[in-house]
Amino acid sequence: MARGGKIIIGLAALAALGLGTFWVLSEPRAIAQSDLPQHVADVANGERLYHAAGCISCHKAGPDVVGAEGLPAGGTPFKTPIGTFYPPNLTPDAETGLGGWTDVQFVNAVQRGLSPEGEHLVPAFPYTSYAHMKTEDVLDIRAYLNSLPAINAPEKRPDLPFEPLLRRAIGIWKLMGLDPTPIAPVAAQTESWNRGAYLVNSAGHCNECHTPRGLFMLPDWTHKFAGGPHPDGQGKVPSLLDLVGRKKYIDAADLSMAFANGEIMGYEDMASGGMGDVQSNLSKLPQSDIDAVAEYVASLK
Ligand code: HEC
Ligand code: HEC
Repeated sequence: MARGGKIIIGLAALAALGLGTFWVLSEPRAIAQSDLPQHVADVANGERLYHAAGCISCHKAGPDVVGAEGLPAGGTPFKTPIGTFYPPNLTPDAETGLGGWTDVQFVNAVQRGLSPEGEHLVPAFPYTSYAHMKTEDVLDIRAYLNSLPAINAPEKRPDLPFEPLLRRAIGIWKLMGLDPTPIAPVAAQTESWNRGAYLVNSAGHCNECHTPRGLFMLPDWTHKFAGGPHPDGQGKVPSLLDLVGRKKYIDAADLSMAFANGEIMGYEDMASGGMGDVQSNLSKLPQSDIDAVAEYVASLK
C-alpha cells in the first residue's frame, strides 16, 4: 500500500479510537433508583432549601407565561457565553412541567446534570454545587415543587450551536468539574457555622459566581471565594474573603442584617449582577439559617 494510504488508514484508526474514547468518557453516569435513600418528604424543609438554592432566580416565569407570577414556570432567557437557555417549567404540570417525572429523574437532573433522556445539561445550571446537597434535601425540594400550582408553559429549546456534540462534550468536562462528595462537618466549628458551610457550598452555590474560573471554565479552588470576572461575561464579582477585616461589615451580625434586608437597609453591595436575587432568596430563610450563612461567610479568610 502507498505510504499516503497507510497514513490515511492510521489517521482514521486514531480518529475512531479518539471518538470511541470520547464516547466512553463522556457517557452519562446516573444515580440508580436503588441508590436513593428511604425518605419521607418534608415539604417545609423543601421550601427552605428551594429558597437557599435560588431555583426561582433562573426558573422564573417568562414574560409570555400568564398567571404564574412568583412561580418557577420557566421560560425567562438565561444568557451564557455559549448560548441562550430557557430554564424549564418546574411546576407539577404533567405535560410541560415536572408532573410526570420520577424522583430519581429529578435527583439526576439536580445532582448529576442529566436529563431524563440521559443528555448532559449545561453547568450554568449549578448542579456541580447541588451535587453536594443531601439527597433527602433534594427530594424535599421535589415535594415542595409538587405542592405548587401546575402551570402549563412549554419548554423552549436553547439557542446552541452543535447542541448534541456540545452536550456530549460536557460529559468530559464533568470528569473534572463534577465532584459529588458530601460536605464533611468541621468538628472544631459551631453547629451554626457548619450549617452555614453546608448551605453556602451546596444549595447556595455561592461559588458559582464568587470563585474565579480557570482553564476549561473549571473553578480555581486555589482562589476559592476570591471573586473575579462575572460568569455571565459582564462586570466583576467581589471577594468574600475577610469581609470584616476589610471593614466591609462590622461583624457577622451586620452581614446577617445585609443578607436579610439588602439594599432597602442601605446594604448596596448586594444589589446587582444577580446578587439582588440571591439576597432576596436568602431573606426568605429562617433567621437561624441567615445567621449561619453570615457566620460562615464572615469567617472566610
Ligand atoms: C443559575 C441558574 C439556575 C439555577 C439557580 C437553577 N437552575 Fe435549573 N436549569 C438552569 C438551566 C440553564 C437549565 C437548562 C440546562 C440545559 O438545558 O442544559 C436548567 C434545567 C433544569 C431542569 C431540567 C432538566 C431537563 O432535563 O429538562 C431541572 C429539573 C432544574 N433545572 C431544576 C432546578 C432546581 C430544582 C433548582 C433549584 C434547586 C434549579 N434548577 C436552579 C438554570 C438554573
Ligand atoms: C449570580 C452570581 C452570584 C451568586 C450566585 C452569588 N453572588 Fe454574591 N455577589 C455577586 C455580585 C455580582 C455581587 C456584587 C453586587 C453589587 O455590588 O451590587 C455580590 C456581592 C456579595 C456580597 C457583598 C460583598 C461586599 O463586598 O460587600 C456578599 C457578602 C455576597 N455576595 C455573598 C454571597 C453569598 C453568601 C452567596 C451564596 C448564598 C452569593 N453571594 C451568591 C454575585 C453572586
